[in-house]
Amino acid sequence: SIRTHRTVIDHERVASYAFAFDIDGVIVRGPETIPEAREALRMLNGANKYNIKVPYIFITNGGGRSEKARCKDLSQRLGITVTEDQVIQGHTPMKDLVPVYKNVLVVGGVLDSCRKVAQGYGFQHVYIPIDIMNWNPSVTPYYQLSEEEKAIAVDADFSKISIDAILVFADSRNWAADQQIILELLLSKNGVMGTVSETAEEGPGLYFAHSDFVWATDYGLSRYGMGALQVSIAALYQEHTGKELQVTRFGKPQRGTFRFAEKVLSNWRKNTLEEHVENLHLEEHGNADESPFVSDSEDDDDSSDSSVSEDLTIEKGSKLLLDLPPASTVYFVGDTPESDIRFANSHDSSWFSILVKTGVYQEGTTPKYKPRQICENVLEAVKFAIEREH
Ligand code: G3P
Ligand code: MG
Repeated sequence: SIRTHRTVIDHERVASYAFAFDIDGVIVRGPETIPEAREALRMLNGANKYNIKVPYIFITNGGGRSEKARCKDLSQRLGITVTEDQVIQGHTPMKDLVPVYKNVLVVGGVLDSCRKVAQGYGFQHVYIPIDIMNWNPSVTPYYQLSEEEKAIAVDADFSKISIDAILVFADSRNWAADQQIILELLLSKNGVMGTVSETAEEGPGLYFAHSDFVWATDYGLSRYGMGALQVSIAALYQEHTGKELQVTRFGKPQRGTFRFAEKVLSNWRKNTLEEHVENLHLEEHGNADESPFVSDSEDDDDSSDSSVSEDLTIEKGSKLLLDLPPASTVYFVGDTPESDIRFANSHDSSWFSILVKTGVYQEGTTPKYKPRQICENVLEAVKFAIEREH
């Protein structure tokens, strides 16, 4: 018989399918944890009637803190251990820009939280709008820095620094000031404050961690997100120059983020399987008859099938050598049709989109991008998918 990797995975209680979760509006709403989320994750960790462990990752457009801090928060809220290689935030793929740009202006987040995140990614020269306002308070005539802001400002002469890229990492806390500074740099000569380009084409590149126009908080109605700031900046730029603003977008529903997510998910599925194998080895002391890879098809009792044992025998602590096939289905649970459902529907037909009613999407409206399934909440989504699989 041919023992496929799928057989191996199914029979050893690690699912061949997987989950990816949006966070805001699915797992949390503002400071609150959505009550059903804990149980949903517990089910995926094996507390389900099939005793199966289902790999999962989180893909949020949110950010403003390190992946490590995000994991700590998720772990506490959900009573599970979430590790850094399970989480993608809007700005996570911006790590790849580290070798490309020297001086970056990072926008958004509380005080200098995003500076720290960018430094953590490896960016060497990270500035924030507060540094620019501290350098010359006349840049923003109607906003004066607080003492707290002054205390975290970096001393720098922005008439001599060329900002190479503007990276909007998280929601702006100060739209008026941030817009003023972003526009000035976009229209500058080589990203130097106080200069004006004649072509409006010499400014730094502009990158957004995501383009969500609205997002779900603990308020009854959705709130404007980073995508709304992008619309506003594009309108100002157009008014000023008559040209269309060029922006590089990350986050959902962008293809780049999808590719990144597939890589993260594939590594995580491998991890889950390896961990499972190690646990079995520990429990079974390496008993060959009860090898985690013995499948139940008819001639599987033939332990002399060397091609199989060679491929699949793994020593405790060693790395899994299997070339794992992609997940049979990835269930993506999200609340925002424009980013989540579009994301899950656009890039690979093996992704199955589930829209929940706990966030941006409101019952009774027609979602702009049609999900494969609509569920009340994340727990229902997990139950639905597990039943669909078994
Ligand atoms: O700012 C975060 C928000 O726009 C969306 O987060 O988790 O729903 O992708 P999430
Ligand atoms: Mg959401």
